[in-house]
Amino acid sequence: MTTALITGATAGIGAAFARRLAHDGHDVVLVARSAERLREHATELHDRHGVEASVLTADLSREEGIAAVEERLGDRARPVDLLVNNAGFGLQGRYLEVPLADELTMLRVHCEAVLRLTTAAVPVMRERRRGGVVNVASVAAFVPRGTYGASKAWVVQFTQGVARDMGGTGVRLMVLCPGFVRTEFHQRAGMDTGGVPGWMWLDADRVVDAGLRDLARGKSLSLPDPRYKALMGAAKLVPRGMLSRVSSTTGRRFGPK
Ligand SMILES: NC(=O)c1ccc[n+]([C@@H]2O[C@H](COP(=O)([O-])OP(=O)(O)OC[C@H]3O[C@@H](n4cnc5c(N)ncnc54)[C@H](OP(=O)(O)O)[C@@H]3O)[C@@H](O)[C@H]2O)c1
Repeated sequence: MTTALITGATAGIGAAFARRLAHDGHDVVLVARSAERLREHATELHDRHGVEASVLTADLSREEGIAAVEERLGDRARPVDLLVNNAGFGLQGRYLEVPLADELTMLRVHCEAVLRLTTAAVPVMRERRRGGVVNVASVAAFVPRGTYGASKAWVVQFTQGVARDMGGTGVRLMVLCPGFVRTEFHQRAGMDTGGVPGWMWLDADRVVDAGLRDLARGKSLSLPDPRYKALMGAAKLVPRGMLSRVSSTTGRRFGPK
């Protein structure tokens, strides 16, 4: 029996990770802000799969929230075998339209929390010579798209760098980079996604299945869908200035209302 801790486990990709990992027989620790939703989800996973599902209510944009999860990850009496840093959000508006405080909150949740939780989990995993960390970034990491894209680019660089440093220790790290996924993400950010073509949408359960397959294969970066693999391959051939223009135009079409 192993234990997985998933941040942002109330909805979307995080909830899909929790479902899949509980289905596979892992005990789960579910982390997010909404205590009631976490409790309902934990009860459902316990009843359906017979695993231990516990709840850790924490706001990862706050010092005490990050510290509480760090403490749980550092508990050698209850080791966590797989950490999924998934919690995240989008912001409505472009540079100078978004309050600076919201951008700083994003950096805290997407970067500081990921750095600190990874750093709390990995030493315990290294001592046990086994464990894994999946950090959820986005294909937005590969195109110039403001603080969101920049924060996800940090997640990609950080994860792949640490994955290399941890080579041979038994600890695997992988960054998962999905495209558009049907979750609460865009609605929460007040984004109008009416213009996004149907073929660009991914299903959260499939994203998780593909991601965990890639983790098992030892990849340090997972693009969990062939359509986005092709798109990202093509994007590498486009000059950066043009990519920036396309990204900005699509951002206006598919982004904030
Ligand atoms: N959906 C997409 O198209 C897409 C594409 C690429 C990457 N991603 C990334 O995938 C990850 C998951 O997004 P999603 O699409 O599943 O979004 P979602 O459906 O909105 O779920 C976001 C989860 O994060 C939690 N969360 C948000 N802020 C938090 C905070 N301050 N502290 C703790 N938990 C917090 C939310 O729970 P509470 O509100 O209960 O705290 C919720 O469980 C994010 O990192 C996102 O950037 C999403």
